[in-house]
Amino acid sequence: MKLRDKVAIVTGGAQGIGRAIVEGLAAEGASVVIADLQGADGPAKALRGQGRRALEVDCDVSDEAQVAAMAEAAMRSFGGIDILVNNAGIYSSLVPKPFEDITVQEWRRMMDVNTLGVFLSCRAVVGSMRARGGGRIININSGTPFKGVPFLLHYVASKGAITGITRGLAKELGPSNILVNGVAPGFTLSEGVKANPVQLEKLSEVSVKARSLARDQFPEDVVGAVTFLAGPESAFITGQTLVVDGGAYFN
Ligand SMILES: NC(=O)c1ccc[n+]([C@@H]2O[C@H](COP(=O)([O-])OP(=O)(O)OC[C@H]3O[C@@H](n4cnc5c(N)ncnc54)[C@H](O)[C@@H]3O)[C@@H](O)[C@H]2O)c1
Repeated sequence: MKLRDKVAIVTGGAQGIGRAIVEGLAAEGASVVIADLQGADGPAKALRGQGRRALEVDCDVSDEAQVAAMAEAAMRSFGGIDILVNNAGIYSSLVPKPFEDITVQEWRRMMDVNTLGVFLSCRAVVGSMRARGGGRIININSGTPFKGVPFLLHYVASKGAITGITRGLAKELGPSNILVNGVAPGFTLSEGVKANPVQLEKLSEVSVKARSLARDQFPEDVVGAVTFLAGPESAFITGQTLVVDGGAYFN
């Protein structure tokens, strides 16, 4: 229970990698705010049924007012914010395609959710973290910008920006004892990915073959890195991105 008395927000926490992170943080004793575009009544109720403290908030991370309301709801219900996991992102609905076929609208929506959403969420929580003497921000990145994966250029660009945000913010927030790190999963069989036959067909086998540990990756595989970066053992680590992909890419 290394996160007892801590309050965590997980964006995009209703399903997939985000939901696994929610459950991992709650198992370590954190009170968890599950913020998601599709709502999160089910996951929050399930946690409360297990005696955990959990709150659901409907939130589109690309909407400034909704993100501010998310942070306010966390402060109102649990008294403050210690941990933010920026997990919400557009990925699992994507179908790989040549970059010339990406529309300006698709590019902008990608950046709105995957980069502006992270900026807005960090900005909304930092005041409360400072007031509590520090905090942890964990950005869910991806192996794709490190590997230069083709046919997903808007996605790869958005996650490359996350590496920059992680590093720049780590320097800026270090004096406030707010640690900013990233976790970069490999191709993961999340709910969203399992509902996308094109991704399953094109990426499952090739991903497994590229790994040192040659098996499928599941949302639960990402959890330990996040709870580590949220907890006391990582108190002198900031600005880093930990690749969790079974040893496909060595960062
Ligand atoms: N699945 C993978 O292979 C993989 C690999 C590397 C990184 N990632 C990253 O992990 C994160 C989660 O991916 P996943 O595969 O679990 O996805 P998923 O599609 O299974 O779940 C994503 C969740 O985020 C929510 N969401 C989407 N847009 C949102 C928005 N604008 N505001 C709030 N919530 C929003 C969705 O409602 C959903 O509950 C993403 O940032 C993704 O880029 C995924």
